[in-house]
Amino acid sequence: MEVVIAAPDELAGLAADAIEQLLAAKPTAVLGLATGSSPLGIYDELVRRYEAGRLSFAQARGFTLDEYVGLPADHPESYRNVIDREIVSRVDFAPGAVRGPDGLAADVVTSCAEYEAAIVAAGGVDLQILGIGSDGHIGFNEPGSSLASRTRIKTLTEQTRGDNARFFGGDIDLVPRHCLTQGLATIMSARHVVLIATGYAKAEAVHHLVEGSVSAMWPGTVLQHHPHVSVLVDPAAAGRLQLADYFRSTYAAKPEWQGL
Ligand code: GLP
Repeated sequence: MEVVIAAPDELAGLAADAIEQLLAAKPTAVLGLATGSSPLGIYDELVRRYEAGRLSFAQARGFTLDEYVGLPADHPESYRNVIDREIVSRVDFAPGAVRGPDGLAADVVTSCAEYEAAIVAAGGVDLQILGIGSDGHIGFNEPGSSLASRTRIKTLTEQTRGDNARFFGGDIDLVPRHCLTQGLATIMSARHVVLIATGYAKAEAVHHLVEGSVSAMWPGTVLQHHPHVSVLVDPAAAGRLQLADYFRSTYAAKPEWQGL
């Protein structure tokens, strides 16, 4: 697990560098796309580089992490629509190249199994962009999630519904109770995980993620078992890291040739 502490725009640039290098080496790369406010700077930077002709998503594919259950297909906050708005429609992904869990599926169990199979059939996720919830969830894997979980239905915590109420006019009652999410084992199958967190509200979750015991109580901690994780945090989100000075000096001494 590499921890980089830097300003948010620098973090977005580092993540975009990793994606640009991946697409240059493998134009058919499979990207794991995350919603939430944390990755927005990365998406803006990718769009800038796309518009500058530096990269293309024309042969790439994408899989989103999660989806609310029951939101109408045209609801602006369905994650399918959010991800279209934030990145997919702004670059040159081919039609149908980005998929997400189907929050309106009649048979949820079959639909989730098909989603897992589609990720495998695509060759697996090469690079997964991730945020983290203030309670340590990744995707929508809330505390208590099985560390071996696969895509399935989950019930959102009141904390997450409260955190996300800002996208529903501040009304927690409008935030769905259920979601579909890639499981922790699904996320662990990605070859490279790039997690970005900013702001002091994430500091406790980041501390557990990097320095805590691996536990279903802080689901992101499962990433300590992943061989290639880049944790990108601003100074506020790093505010509770005991090893912050070590991470800063390690990054300052990093060989030039070594990307994320
Ligand atoms: C949401 C999403 C997660 C996201 C998290 C943090 O609930 N399901 O994928 O990482 O919350 O969101 P934000 O980046 O807006 O803080």
